[in-house]
Amino acid sequence: MNPQSWSVASDDYLRYAEASTTYFAEKSVEFAHLESQTDINILDVACGTGVVAAAVVKLLSPTVSLTSTDYASGMVDVVSSKAEKLGWKNVKTEVMDGMNLPLSEASIDAVFCVFGVMLMPDGAKALSEFHRILVPGGKAVYTTWASQELQHLLLNAMAKTKGEEPQGRPWVRSWADLEFCKEQLVAAGFENVSGVLCSGDMPTDAENLDEFIASMTRNPGIRTALLKDMNDDQITQFKKELRASIIEKYGEQDVYKFRADANIAMGTK
Ligand SMILES: C[S@@+](CC[C@H](N)C(=O)[O-])C[C@H]1O[C@@H](n2cnc3c(N)ncnc32)[C@H](O)[C@@H]1O
Repeated sequence: MNPQSWSVASDDYLRYAEASTTYFAEKSVEFAHLESQTDINILDVACGTGVVAAAVVKLLSPTVSLTSTDYASGMVDVVSSKAEKLGWKNVKTEVMDGMNLPLSEASIDAVFCVFGVMLMPDGAKALSEFHRILVPGGKAVYTTWASQELQHLLLNAMAKTKGEEPQGRPWVRSWADLEFCKEQLVAAGFENVSGVLCSGDMPTDAENLDEFIASMTRNPGIRTALLKDMNDDQITQFKKELRASIIEKYGEQDVYKFRADANIAMGTK
């Protein structure tokens, strides 16, 4: 995974993936309880196509300032155009690596990172960066996938493609475990650490099921975690297997809703 692969995937992400993360971004912003805060500086790390920005605009005071950041310029560009189109006057954007933030110590009041830390090669480094840039009393909130119905279907399709027995496997290392996520905040120096397991749906239209499946095989996170050893023929077979498993499990539907669980963890500096 690299910034370029995510930039290339930004259109796919906008079309198919952000519908799955919007709900969890809103829950993450709600979890921080910043509704009564005005004139604070918020940083969104690994912003993707801007689901946290949309939640901040919807749920918090228009006087808060949000900087949406991602290491993929293609993602940041999507958020800039949304901000312009939708009149998000308090949202600005910048390309930044979450593991090496170009910000001074104690310069930010709250940091969000939704489905980003778990994908970084050194997530612990990102958490220590969040701690460094926060003011005393500032909050860091980050969100990881716990388990997804879709993940089991992806793993089954992968095993069938390779002629293997399906096996359970954590989504991305131990970030799938809420207790691990909280421990990582403590290790980075945070206090008052808390967390919640949150359930939601990942929806997709039936008429776009094939496109949705194709977009999953292009997603840099899924490619790296599951598909990296497959050749083109195997990817084609994988798509067929995944489609068959979805139809077998859910039948023909107008809209498919895949159940998903996410961990939201928060700490105070
Ligand atoms: C699964 S997407 C999540 C996007 C968004 N937060 C959401 O929930 O829809 C992961 C994002 O992490 C970004 N990313 C991965 N590694 C990063 C890093 N080291 N620094 C900043 N962003 C990173 C990717 O470019 C991608 O936009």
